[in-house]
Amino acid sequence: IASEKESMYLVSEFAKKYFQETMLNTEEGKAIGLSYFKERGFTSETITKFGLGYSPESWDAFTKEALSKGYLLDYLEKTGLTIVKEDKQFDRFKGRVMFPIQSMSGRVLGFGGRILSNDKKAAKYLNSPESDIYHKSKVLYGIFHAKQAIAKQNNCYLVEGYTDVIQMHQAGIENVVASSGTALTPDQIRLINRLTKNITVLFDGDAAGLRASIRGIDLILEEGMNVKVCTFLEGDDPDSFARKNSFEDLVLYLETNAKDFIQFKASILMDEAKNDPIKKADLIRDMVVSISKIPDRIKREIYIQECSRIMDISEQVLLNTLAQLVKKDI
Ligand code: CTP
Ligand code: MN
Ligand code: MN
Ligand code: MN
Ligand code: MN
Repeated sequence: IASEKESMYLVSEFAKKYFQETMLNTEEGKAIGLSYFKERGFTSETITKFGLGYSPESWDAFTKEALSKGYLLDYLEKTGLTIVKEDKQFDRFKGRVMFPIQSMSGRVLGFGGRILSNDKKAAKYLNSPESDIYHKSKVLYGIFHAKQAIAKQNNCYLVEGYTDVIQMHQAGIENVVASSGTALTPDQIRLINRLTKNITVLFDGDAAGLRASIRGIDLILEEGMNVKVCTFLEGDDPDSFARKNSFEDLVLYLETNAKDFIQFKASILMDEAKNDPIKKADLIRDMVVSISKIPDRIKREIYIQECSRIMDISEQVLLNTLAQLVKKDI
């Protein structure tokens, strides 16, 4: 089994190099793949750093090349790079630009592939399947390039997508990773926990991003970590925002708009509840549920005080609600 996994790592590394070379050294790759990334504002240095590439518009060009170099079909199939159907072989990522997904130590585990056309029928991103080397729930995109900066800054920015990670790096903010392709998981949060206790969530400025931020908060609190949230205006994500703004403006935006989770929840929920007392009661409960996830009792009480102040409700009522929730947990 150990050597099976080793073979899967090797074929993944080969694939990364193949997609890179195809993008940088073929006419098709330059015209389609490279120009796509250039149009998104990525420099050559960034493209090299993240090992970006291009999978040609062909049913099996990659698979044929890999087989001719002696890589076994078994491992091409197990990593999902090749799809085998009725004895025919197909390149999974045909005609897509490629984002290699690396482990904490830099090994290639899998890929994300983005479609180039605006064809709404096909998925915008296609990802490698779960495999013996790629456990999606335990991987964070960008962690290899971010780990030192996360430890040094003692904070980790958590974004949704590949391009958010890359664009922020290029802008000069390197302590950033993405959950990419899955909803955030406890294992992903624990990976960050090894480097810092502080996470700032930067999800897209849309309804899905907001929902994901809210879900993420409780998971992060449960791991005993501190969480802030910084939102973007409708239609923006960290990629588009970083591209439009200077490094100084980006830093300023993040610093002025990052709210502690309790402030964040209060602001969005207050917006929804307005003057409706029933909704307000629901949202206060909702905030106390988040507070109940915090393992540390003293921290919980500090947040109860804060919540009481923001929501203008007595601490005693909040503490009673909290006591019920914490008891249920045990
Ligand atoms: N994603 C996915 N499959 C999809 C859509 C999205 O796996 N069909 C994942 C990708 O990792 C993507 C992330 O979810 O990067 C965020 O999705 P989205 O915001 O839609 O994409 P962006 O990262 O903003 O990509 P782009 O700017 O290229 O449109
Ligand atoms: Mn395993
Ligand atoms: Mn989105
Ligand atoms: Mn996005
Ligand atoms: Mn985007």
